[in-house]
Amino acid sequence: MTKAADFNDRSLSLGLARVSEAAAIACTPLIGRGDEKAADQAAVDAMRTQLNKLDIAGVVVIGEGERDEAPMLYIGEEVGTGTGPGVDIALDPLEGTTLTAKDMPNALAVIAMGPRGSMLHAPDVYMDKLAIGPGYAEGVVTLDMSPSERVAALAAVKGCSARDITVCVLERPRHEDMIAELRSTGAAIRLITDGDVAGVMHCAEPDVTGIDMYMGSGGAPEGVLAAAALKCMGGQILGRLLFRNDDERGRAAKAGITDFDRVYTRDDLVTEDVIFAATGVTDGSLVHGIKREVGYVTAETILMRSKTGSVRRMIYRNPVS
Ligand code: FBP
Repeated sequence: MTKAADFNDRSLSLGLARVSEAAAIACTPLIGRGDEKAADQAAVDAMRTQLNKLDIAGVVVIGEGERDEAPMLYIGEEVGTGTGPGVDIALDPLEGTTLTAKDMPNALAVIAMGPRGSMLHAPDVYMDKLAIGPGYAEGVVTLDMSPSERVAALAAVKGCSARDITVCVLERPRHEDMIAELRSTGAAIRLITDGDVAGVMHCAEPDVTGIDMYMGSGGAPEGVLAAAALKCMGGQILGRLLFRNDDERGRAAKAGITDFDRVYTRDDLVTEDVIFAATGVTDGSLVHGIKREVGYVTAETILMRSKTGSVRRMIYRNPVS
């Protein structure tokens, strides 16, 4: 194994795209079939197989769960051939299992890779998240502001009215008060039923997606993946872990977290340059989903490097038997 400094993001990135492509394509027969578990399992199997072909000494830091609850791609699992650089990997083979089962928009296969120690080992708890796109000074919006203060602050720096701001929010009962307060500002709300990695990524391209800001609680692991995406695309994300009980605090302590109230910035969640790949499973605003034609399957991947800020969109067509 070579040292972390040898992380060659340029040459590894195409391999990473193959990994997310494989996971997304494996879901093809399961899109819209009402079986979330089967779709997730297909994505996990394919992602793991493809990941193990890469010349890396990888460790899964954001994965399918703790070792005792996830047989594959569990946190701490070593992946790759073991002959390349030591890397940390954050992955979600199928981000949006329900979206896939119901053939609803924005299900993605997602993976990020960076040098060892580059990503927060986030426990599987909720995270309070707030994200905006590129081009704004740090601290323009904060987690300590109320939802209406965030809308007012963003509208002020954007030079528009609150009515011109669109906020993306996961539709959950726990967000009802936040949604009501946002409505009172006049801002528009894009409600999503799942998939907050895509929700946060939408902030990075407001002209394409129409979304200016993301807020609300979702999975902490997804928060790290979203931070990796924004590190490449530009934009800010703030996150604070949320604990419902001592078991969750215990999970955080086990992951090495000592300050339970800490607000993490994008660069705290992902501390070094990373590469990120996401392949569309179902159609979305950022990438198309898997397309089936007679004899072929086509997948679209967004592949990015934070070091250069490069964003590639790649179409992959492959014959199927
Ligand atoms: P899955 O793909 O694992 O089903 O997760 C989807 C998701 O919507 C995430 O994007 C989000 O962070 C999390 O679930 C929200 O959790 P909850 O459904 O408990 O509100």
